Amino acid sequence: MASNGGGSSNEAWGSRIGLILAMAGNAVGLGNFLRFPRQAAANGGGSFMITYFIALLLLGIPLMWIEWGIGRHGGQYRKGHIPGMFAAIWKHPAAKYVGAVGLVVPLVVMIYYTYIESWTAAFAWFSLTKDYWGHTTQEGMIAYLQSFQSIPAEGAPVYHHEYTPYAFFIGTLFINIFVLSKGISGGIEKLAKIGMPILFVFAIILAGVVLFLPAQPGIGATPWQGLEFIYKPDYSRLGEPGVWLASAGQIFFTLSVGMCTLTAYASYLSKKDDITLNGIATAATNETAEVVLGGTIAIPAAVTFFGVTGAMAIAQSGSFNLGFATMPVVFQQLPFGNLLGVAWFGLLFFAGITSSVAMLTPITAFFREEFGFKRESVAWSLGALCLVFGLMHVHWLQHGVLDEWDYWAGTFGLVVVAVLEVIIFMWIFTPAKAWESMHQGADIRIPQIFKFIMTYVTPIYLLFILGWWGWVDALPILLNEKTAGGGPVNPADTPYITLARAIIVLFAIVAVVLIKMAWVRNKYDDRKGFALADHTGEAA
Ligand code: ALA
Repeated sequence: MASNGGGSSNEAWGSRIGLILAMAGNAVGLGNFLRFPRQAAANGGGSFMITYFIALLLLGIPLMWIEWGIGRHGGQYRKGHIPGMFAAIWKHPAAKYVGAVGLVVPLVVMIYYTYIESWTAAFAWFSLTKDYWGHTTQEGMIAYLQSFQSIPAEGAPVYHHEYTPYAFFIGTLFINIFVLSKGISGGIEKLAKIGMPILFVFAIILAGVVLFLPAQPGIGATPWQGLEFIYKPDYSRLGEPGVWLASAGQIFFTLSVGMCTLTAYASYLSKKDDITLNGIATAATNETAEVVLGGTIAIPAAVTFFGVTGAMAIAQSGSFNLGFATMPVVFQQLPFGNLLGVAWFGLLFFAGITSSVAMLTPITAFFREEFGFKRESVAWSLGALCLVFGLMHVHWLQHGVLDEWDYWAGTFGLVVVAVLEVIIFMWIFTPAKAWESMHQGADIRIPQIFKFIMTYVTPIYLLFILGWWGWVDALPILLNEKTAGGGPVNPADTPYITLARAIIVLFAIVAVVLIKMAWVRNKYDDRKGFALADHTGEAA
């Protein structure tokens, strides 16, 4: 694996196990342990799981291979970023500009994602110190969480210093940037080798504890009923488009498909390296972490303490209530509860950080490859940028700015990137060349049926999702007829939401200008393509 695949500035993965752990770390994240249980519970449990597995098979797995393919192909021309990867395949002046979305989406997601990650660090600390002990009801814990987020309800007590969330955010961002500044094998791979085993050990301990929770007086439900709620096939809600869309959105987010991070990581591979087996191994590790471990912790715990109906109501009441309110209520009832709390929030922290460091790699690669900047300088400059815009989220969380970014970049944006990827790789590059490219150095052959799925089924499925979302969500959200977070529309929030959107548009404009500058600076000829990274002088 020490073979150098090109990518930016001759970086490479140190070992195959390091690559797999980093790729799995990239995929396994807050989405697996916080977003998945919430989505499953809010969308009918067993019904959600049927649509989830269909989306995994027809979208997630094909796109996983496609992204490894696009990334590894781009790496041959020393391109670790989407504008370059698209231009390496599609010899058209528009390719690089279309790829601007591949710089904006991961940057935007990284900023708000790191802020949520910082909550997990804070709550690991609050668990260790038993700071929330005594808030033994769901309502009490929600009040505690809102106090930490500086959004206490009218007249509610405040339990935290107003600077606490800022301190945790700055600390978490600092660790992310530090790891990034150490590079691919020296930073990201090392983090994955430490973080992933810890995460799995914590998750297995918690799953074991939860499965043997005794039924609670007055509730009568067991954790096994929680498992049955998710795993027992249920066909009753399959007619609801919302359930299909929620499961497709979850597949995207959890596998990091469309985030441009899998492509960036794959760009550090050579033609001789396998991507077919590694791609499916990454998907399998993520799904084990999500469906087996993620599904065995929060929902069964919530069902045991609040019953099936109660757990569903909690999931619907807010994105983070299951993880940050229900779980702490449960921990307070258990022996060594504070240590279990450290395990839960610690696992979330490691899951989060191994994903968030990935999100700045595409833009880091762009500045290094196209402008020749030093890794450290790029990392710390991006850190300053993330700090400024991250503070906006810390300060204005109550105005819906985080939900807005999560919708446009973390939900809609992922599908936009995936549509572009599949069109450029499967249609413009052609299915035959894409298939051949994915099989260079392959340890296994992808079943032939996937060639058909990748060429026809995945793009049609994606276009359908994009169209449907555009109609039922994106348009009404854009027209301020509904909120990105699902709550009631509050006209007082409009200026903040407009600003949040304007920043994304500004990022996109800056990305396009930088791409133009890079192409002029490096005298790239769009119709000829790039020189191979090993400087054989061959054109792409
Ligand atoms: N795939 C990452 C997650 O699940 C982003 O959180």
